[in-house]
Amino acid sequence: MSNPTIPLTFLLILTYSALLSQSIIPSRYDGFVYRKRAASTATVLIEAFYDPVCPDSRDSWPPLKQAVDHYGPTVVSLIVHTFPLPYHDNAFITSRALHIVNELNASATYHLLNAFFKHQERFYSEQTLNMSREAVLDKVINFASSTLGNSMQSAIKSGFNDSATGTKTRVSFKYGCSRGVFGTPFFFVNGFSIPFNDSEPINYNGWRNIIDPLTTKQRNI
Ligand SMILES: *[C@@H]1O[C@H](CO)[C@@H](O)[C@H](O)[C@H]1NC(C)=O
Ligand SMILES: *[C@@H]1O[C@H](CO)[C@@H](O)[C@H](O)[C@H]1NC(C)=O
Ligand SMILES: *[C@@H]1O[C@H](CO)[C@@H](O)[C@H](O)[C@H]1NC(C)=O
Ligand SMILES: *[C@@H]1O[C@H](CO)[C@@H](O)[C@H](O)[C@H]1NC(C)=O
Repeated sequence: MSNPTIPLTFLLILTYSALLSQSIIPSRYDGFVYRKRAASTATVLIEAFYDPVCPDSRDSWPPLKQAVDHYGPTVVSLIVHTFPLPYHDNAFITSRALHIVNELNASATYHLLNAFFKHQERFYSEQTLNMSREAVLDKVINFASSTLGNSMQSAIKSGFNDSATGTKTRVSFKYGCSRGVFGTPFFFVNGFSIPFNDSEPINYNGWRNIIDPLTTKQRNI
């Protein structure tokens, strides 16, 4: 290269992006650990990237949950990460509600996730089209607190007023991006992605077929 400024510029850009990426490293690994089982490399570790208002995420959850429950906590662990899709109007706000609740009481996170999945259509874009952002926020807060107990309402409300919970939700999203997540549901098993197939969601037997061989060859490879 004849122009010596090019490598320097390149280096500066690299340094800058390294700094940027460092600044978003969270203090703990992202995500919600299922049943507070210790997620560890001693188990088969499944990670699911979910959008709380995505129908495919909702449909993929019962078979995954059933499969994870089938194995003991020493065999399989599960972490759910939020990945709010930009084309679902309320994906970020519902994801943020999960992060807020997880901070308040980590045992309640999956209750809220189940409830969002169960009543998902209430938060679809069309359902909230003529509501203000503020009204949607109230709707999410009221939904979360009626699901988990009204005593949590003010804590959830102030959670939404705390920019740290917004940051957490963003970091979760960026983490998904950094791993090449481009849709939901998106799964990793022991860090390796499961090929994304829209036309064939993984059912219970599909999960058993993925996990069973890993548990038998546990110590070999
Ligand atoms: C946390 O959530 C769980 C499940 O919803 C509930 O049983 C428990 O009482 C909650 N703990 C506190 C301190 O609110
Ligand atoms: C939205 O519009 C529907 C009818 O078009 C109406 O029934 C509903 O009350 C409206 N919701 C709000 C929040 O304005
Ligand atoms: C939100 O935070 C601001 C400043 O941090 C505070 O003045 C305001 O009262 C808070 N609002 C609610 C609803 O907690
Ligand atoms: C997705 O599933 C369909 C139906 O089983 C299959 O025909 C197709 O090859 C799969 N695609 C990928 C990318 O695995």
